[in-house]
Amino acid sequence: MDEKEDARVTDAVATKNLVESAVSAAMTQVLPADLAGGDPLVRRSDHADFQSNVALALAKQARRSPRELAQSLAEAINDQTVSATVSGPGFLNLRVRDGAIWDRVNDRMSDERLGIGTPATGERVVIDYSAPNIAKEMHVGHLRTTIIGDALARVLDFLGAEVVRQNHLGDWGTQFGMLIQYLDEHPELPWRQQDTLVDATSTVSTLDGLYRAARAQFDADTAFADRARSRVVALQSGDLDTLAVWRDLVGESQHAFQALYDRLGVLLTPADSAGESTYNPYLGDVVDELTAAGIAVPSEGALCVFFEDIIGPDGDPVPLIVRKNDGGFGYAATDLATIRYRIRDLKATRILYVVDARQALHFRMIFATARRAGWLTHGVDAVHVPFGTVLGPDGRPFKTRSGGTVRLSELLDAAVDGARTVIAEKAHGLDAATLDHVVQAAGIGAVKYADLSTSRTKDYTFDIGRMVALSGNTGVYLQYAHARIQSILRKVPGSKTVGQVDATLPLHPTERALILSLDECEEILTEVATTLEPHRLCGYLFELAKAYTEFYESCPVLRADTPAQRDNRIALCQFTGRTLATGLNLLGIEAPPRM
Ligand code: ARG
Repeated sequence: MDEKEDARVTDAVATKNLVESAVSAAMTQVLPADLAGGDPLVRRSDHADFQSNVALALAKQARRSPRELAQSLAEAINDQTVSATVSGPGFLNLRVRDGAIWDRVNDRMSDERLGIGTPATGERVVIDYSAPNIAKEMHVGHLRTTIIGDALARVLDFLGAEVVRQNHLGDWGTQFGMLIQYLDEHPELPWRQQDTLVDATSTVSTLDGLYRAARAQFDADTAFADRARSRVVALQSGDLDTLAVWRDLVGESQHAFQALYDRLGVLLTPADSAGESTYNPYLGDVVDELTAAGIAVPSEGALCVFFEDIIGPDGDPVPLIVRKNDGGFGYAATDLATIRYRIRDLKATRILYVVDARQALHFRMIFATARRAGWLTHGVDAVHVPFGTVLGPDGRPFKTRSGGTVRLSELLDAAVDGARTVIAEKAHGLDAATLDHVVQAAGIGAVKYADLSTSRTKDYTFDIGRMVALSGNTGVYLQYAHARIQSILRKVPGSKTVGQVDATLPLHPTERALILSLDECEEILTEVATTLEPHRLCGYLFELAKAYTEFYESCPVLRADTPAQRDNRIALCQFTGRTLATGLNLLGIEAPPRM
């Protein structure tokens, strides 16, 4: 048994696993050996706790009527934990006994990780995300990659994978020659400020403007264009003065990005930065390797890779250009060196590129080339994780009123303002500092949740009013749900925590539904790790919050009938609170204890 399987078996404590084992055991008794080992096909159900249609699926092969087969399975199942009845043409309705459900609560609550296993153990996942460009401000286009990439990094790490975050900064290329030349010719422009985070942000916003000015002069003034080109050569050949300015540009930009990462609460740090320039020393070698293997071939003065199945609208194959006809290397060459490095040196088993959907063809060509070169082999999975566009109120890609790009920092300010309006009305008894913290957490959380809860490949409209709404599937709703539970728990005399529930008490239907929902957490997280779709976790937390509300509305906690019943319900509040906080944390969203 390999390590991965092992972790799964020892950690599996969800009620569903229990039911699956019961059905599997019955299958072994009732079915011939070749059919007995299959998937017991257990699902959650509205009619019972769970349902299985395994009898319907296997009846034909077993040469029995589905209903009669279901009947035999049901008889074989009735045991201490799970009872089965047959319904319809041969469905098994499966009900877990109350005591067994309470037992799961005890097992899971006594574990720091709430009994959630580490099925991703042994995987080494490189996650390429955020990747803004040096000397430019982060804008709305960097929002999704940053937020989605971070949530995936958190979930995979929690499930036991070794996660290597890689920020593939755009820190190399001809544009730097242009900008450095421009700065050199305009010493009167003070772009460098004091070395603090706040100043770095305004420095980068200045640089962004200067870059535009440089671009304009480059287009209008051929003499300047020539000087800018020689500056590119100087940069690439390691001219010390040019490199020094370049380093300052990178440093200032990194400060500004970090300020935004900290504000967003994403895990990226400067240590995760491996910008395009990192791969500069390896480009020649990579291209030689591809040429020697006959994978890169000369074409119109350039070196290109062609693919049988990638044909342009004109019927000609579309090239991946690894060396341009002026001898320069571009984005593609860098990504080839990058993937080779991630496999050979970082020893990735899985590489996730959280990059917008428009780069799909680029990655298809990079992966195909890496496969042909023998870098990307069996046992390594390279995945482009695309996402849709953030739209403005007009339903078109989000732009400022004048048609410019929307700065990320402004967007966050607006969301925090929106959250302030909604929360200040409700917050009673929070001191100013706490209120301010809560408003930040809610505003930032709202933006992140709105992004993550949308199915990844869909576009969505950036609508602050909807994002900060107190009801519906929003981050603010979940943060309130969590804070409300904490406030109930604060009212427990002595704030006592319940270590163990009394497993002999009968379950109220809403208690049962809540526990079964709590029990789904590991399955959902595993799904997120496999499908790379964080919206599944959002949907789960929303359903969990609803199950909790239903429980709370029908089951008095502090005024329960007996002390034992009260303790069991306090435990369910604690368990739900911990699950919500864990889930929000894995989405990168804060769960303040008071709101
Ligand atoms: N900096 C690039 C951009 O802004 C994204 C880089 C994505 N990662 C990669 N390995 N190509 O479009």
